[in-house]
Amino acid sequence: MIIETIVTTLDTAGRCNPAPMGVVPLSGGEGRIRLYPFKTTHTFCNLKATGAAVVNMSWDGALYVYTALGDPELPLIPADKIPGLVLRDNWGYWEVEVEELWEEGERAAVTCRIVKEMAREGMGGFNRARAALVEGAILATRLHLNSPASIRSDLERLAAIVTRTGGRREREAMNFLQEYVERLRKVGDRNAAD
Ligand SMILES: Cc1cc2nc3c(=O)[nH]c(=O)nc-3n(C[C@H](O)[C@H](O)[C@H](O)COP(=O)(O)O)c2cc1C
Repeated sequence: MIIETIVTTLDTAGRCNPAPMGVVPLSGGEGRIRLYPFKTTHTFCNLKATGAAVVNMSWDGALYVYTALGDPELPLIPADKIPGLVLRDNWGYWEVEVEELWEEGERAAVTCRIVKEMAREGMGGFNRARAALVEGAILATRLHLNSPASIRSDLERLAAIVTRTGGRREREAMNFLQEYVERLRKVGDRNAAD
């Protein structure tokens, strides 16, 4: 099973980088998880350089959009067992230390040991708009893997769910997503015409 999370890492200068990352809890691997960051990501570079991260659980779909595509200011608090920062508005988190890092292929596999676990009650129920934003953010970070037509039609379908079932925060994040994708598409079209 893959759990979608927001991973916060520090660079060597101590700056915090939040990014959505899928995390696989290892069965039989008592208190261990594995991340699969692309080697081009800051997250990968930071994990390799510092050997630590905070894996934050969040049900705020908009946060997945903003951390995947931009560099938002977020309320953060110091981690306890590792040098790192925790998203203040989490719904649970793991502080982890890197144990093993495989670098073959374009995605690394990073096995980590959980050194502190915090779980909270009261997730607040499933919301389709938030789930649609998580899907939309994945689409927007994989533009190179799909055709513009299929991305646009998938985003329109997700936007309809957000309009129907989301609140203001979710609608704003979906607008941000659609504008981001449209902007990149125009740049792509211009480059193709040159
Ligand atoms: C829900 C979700 C899950 C993601 N999972 C991964 C992942 O497992 N590995 C990865 O490299 N990128 C993943 N991405 C894409 C990265 O978050 C995205 O490329 C981000 O810009 C990387 O940020 P960074 O360079 O600051 O680390 C995911 C995106 C979303 C929205």
